[in-house]
Amino acid sequence: MEWFKRDFDHPLYFQIYRSKELEANEEGVALAALLGLPAGSLVLDLPCGWGRLQPALEEQGLRVIGGDLSPLNLARHASEFPAPLTRLDMRSLPFRDGCAEGVFCAFTSWGYFATDAENLRQLTEFARVMKAGGVLLLDLIGRIYLEESVEGAGSAWFTAEEGYRERVRWSPDRRRIFTDRIMEGERFRHDIWIPSPEETLDCLRRAGLVLDQVFGDLEGGPFLPESERWIYRAIKP
Ligand SMILES: C[S@@+](CC[C@H](N)C(=O)[O-])C[C@H]1O[C@@H](n2cnc3c(N)ncnc32)[C@H](O)[C@@H]1O
Repeated sequence: MEWFKRDFDHPLYFQIYRSKELEANEEGVALAALLGLPAGSLVLDLPCGWGRLQPALEEQGLRVIGGDLSPLNLARHASEFPAPLTRLDMRSLPFRDGCAEGVFCAFTSWGYFATDAENLRQLTEFARVMKAGGVLLLDLIGRIYLEESVEGAGSAWFTAEEGYRERVRWSPDRRRIFTDRIMEGERFRHDIWIPSPEETLDCLRRAGLVLDQVFGDLEGGPFLPESERWIYRAIKP
């Protein structure tokens, strides 16, 4: 089974990522501002997870449709943040061409697939469903920041305050990051491609999108190699 089908669709996922609940309002307001679309715009929140960012997007006057692969996340979204929702796989979106003004892809939700073709396909699908002039906001972890934090932590296991054990390592070719976690006897492994800026820009271009800006933080500060976040804003011409 592909790792993301299990890791995110498990009740312990919500405990492991508990801190993201507390960050949701600040992140949502800031990322909505970077998306920069006028009130009334239709934005696809892909993947939406349990919908933690949706209230902030709606507060900006955006109309939001959420999509995610995980039934568990969608069920939580429906109960806590009722909204139009659809179960989908980002490799093949169930939306018409050019239906949305924006696609909002937050919290390093790209690079999950095993092949370059599938990861490109996710961006091609995003571009397909955007109107001309539409905006994609792609919020990724900074690769150099990640390299430094993995180097600092070594490849040892540590115990997080949420109660799970974690070990983070690069794949042998250093393209992907493996995050192993053990909680309550359950084992999880995230396996995510962490692209360089050049690789991301190449994929955006091949998906038919034009880079508008890259931000280095939630406040819209400049992109720096060592920034914790690399947030790409791209436009469909
Ligand atoms: C790190 S979470 C981010 C969710 C949300 N953007 C946020 O900021 O809370 C990644 C999400 O991607 C979803 N996901 C993983 N693979 C997917 C796929 N192939 N198609 C659609 N959603 C997927 C997971 O179910 C999970 O909810």
